Amino acid sequence: MVNNEQNKIEKVVSLAKRRGFIFGGSEIYGGLGGTWDYGPLGVLLKNNVKNEWWESMVMMRNDIFGVDAAILTSVKVLEASGHVSNFTDPLVECTNCHRRFREDHLEVLDKKLLEKISKKLGREVDHIKRCPHCGGDIDLKINPSRKFNLLFKTYAGPVEDSASLAYLRPETAQGIFTNFKNILDTMRPKLPFGIAQIGKAFRNEITPGNFIFRTREFEQMELEFFVRPGEEKKHFEKWRETRFSWYTDLGINKKNLRFYDYPKEELVHYSSGTSDVEYRFNLKKEFDELEGIAIRNDYDLSHHAKSSGIDLTYFDDKENKRFFPYVIEPSAGVDRACLAFLLDAYCEEEDKEGVRMVLKLNPKLAPYKVAVFPLLANKEQLIEKAISIYKELNLDFMVAWDDAGNIGKRYRRQDEVGTPFCVTVDFETMENDTVTVRDRDTMKQERIEIKKLKSFLEGKIK
Ligand code: GAP
Repeated sequence: MVNNEQNKIEKVVSLAKRRGFIFGGSEIYGGLGGTWDYGPLGVLLKNNVKNEWWESMVMMRNDIFGVDAAILTSVKVLEASGHVSNFTDPLVECTNCHRRFREDHLEVLDKKLLEKISKKLGREVDHIKRCPHCGGDIDLKINPSRKFNLLFKTYAGPVEDSASLAYLRPETAQGIFTNFKNILDTMRPKLPFGIAQIGKAFRNEITPGNFIFRTREFEQMELEFFVRPGEEKKHFEKWRETRFSWYTDLGINKKNLRFYDYPKEELVHYSSGTSDVEYRFNLKKEFDELEGIAIRNDYDLSHHAKSSGIDLTYFDDKENKRFFPYVIEPSAGVDRACLAFLLDAYCEEEDKEGVRMVLKLNPKLAPYKVAVFPLLANKEQLIEKAISIYKELNLDFMVAWDDAGNIGKRYRRQDEVGTPFCVTVDFETMENDTVTVRDRDTMKQERIEIKKLKSFLEGKIK
């Protein structure tokens, strides 16, 4: 097992690059900070994560509707939501190297060390932070932090002026609120009901980092669940539990997940409850936010109604009155979820041939569900048979093909990318139409009739 957790993230980053999961953005030109590209296996993993979310939040329910709103967003939408004036982080600059950082990401210096420096200099130094790049002083009295807006600006159309200014959305949520009336008019839902969306979001983070944990371009999976005012606490509790279980049902170890419930003084003024689902990422802190679940009351709908002049109330025919529903928002990051699933699945196990690296991903999330090998790569009849099995399975599953090197090496390669089952075609196959199926986690092999392979795999995967 990997004991050193810091080491673990480095190993996962290295595996992700080596095996085609995730590469640096614009890499051949030296990279573009805070951007990452998903490779062939990464995109399969990411799509599986998104599909699981979509299936459980939209397809399996009749009270949640999906949308896919535009990324380019009118300035008016983000003025009304408060992003244009308030979506800021505190920016500070090192007086020595002039690099810029987010103040709340700077290490808090040890109290004893601060006292020591203070004694030496003969003055208070509480306002001095250490530059993570050059080790120099960041003096918040001389250079206090300033508010830095995270919105990415662009221009819609050929003229670059204030009239054509537009933003890349900083969250998918606003595209849900601006479609609230469209959903009411077209789908005629009754409270409680939800609108869900998966898609890209963009934030000009001051200090992106920790691989795909904090990036400038990322994906979110967001639900706005509209409820009757007064019933928000009940629904909030339900969503907290539902979202926590989603991660554990997909294989995240309960020990590595926890809630952070915001105390009253940390809540934004319009929220009467917010909890983060935190994962043990072991970055600077042991636990960090994976998903936020918040009661947003009627803040968004009432602000958009006021700014747009469009009635965004709900007509309740039971009570014969109009009102703004309250909303519960479970908001998850796709990339952070991928990182959590990768970290949680990564293991190193010793066996007689050395150390095997294995991604014990839930089969639903694994990029390939099964790999097919001919035992020997130079035996025409084995290859032909293996190809026919590959083609048949490929109609229902993502299948890997590998005929390079010995079988042991092929198993290792599939273990490393999380393929739950490996099917080997050998000489016995030619006699009785059976294959060996090897299980990634137990490494046990069993003989299965080819005609039963599909139902065997379906039983294990779906
Ligand atoms: N609509 C609410 C909202 O956007 P948030 O806490 O700012 O809330 C929700 O974002 C989730 O999106 C986070 O829990 C995280 O998983 C993901 N996320 C936010 N900023 C991110 C970034 N810069 N890089 C990667 N994921 C991010």
